Amino acid sequence: MSKKALYPGSFDPITYGHLDIIKRASEIFDELTIAIVDNPDKSPLFSIEERKELIMNVIKADNVRIDSFKGLLVQYATDNAFQTIIRGLRAVSDFDYEFQMSLTNRQLGKNIDTIFFMTDEKYSYLSSSIVKQVCRYGGDISSFVPEEVSLSLKEKLK
Ligand code: PNS
Repeated sequence: MSKKALYPGSFDPITYGHLDIIKRASEIFDELTIAIVDNPDKSPLFSIEERKELIMNVIKADNVRIDSFKGLLVQYATDNAFQTIIRGLRAVSDFDYEFQMSLTNRQLGKNIDTIFFMTDEKYSYLSSSIVKQVCRYGGDISSFVPEEVSLSLKEKLK
């Protein structure tokens, strides 16, 4: 049976930190689905379609799909027969929130496990919010996101 996993997140926008997790998870699982949360409460900078397109343009692996979801992650996972959720852990400070989220998801969806990838230390400080902030004030973001993403960010924040 082929092993598939779900990598959910906001991806607003995708960074080298996300890409590192995607590469490593896609080498372990037969199929990896990136699921972008559609949550307007978070006031995302990029629309779902824009985020999908940015991700599509920068991922290399051909066993990676991109989708979006509204509402509960476990509902999406159950509806699409996923038992494994992938998340990246950057630092100890991520742990409390991720632990709480994975236990909640496991309580809501009994067969659903979360597997954590320790982020490459190169990216342990990186987040989409930091990248947006640096870009907004004219800083160099070339080591944080691929060029396509950098250009779109600059365009958005002009
Ligand atoms: O990239 P992010 O913003 O850290 O991703 C967070 C995400 C999308 C995984 C999380 O907010 C989520 O699963 N949202 C869907 C709503 C949900 O299922 N909440 C209950 C789990 S705590």
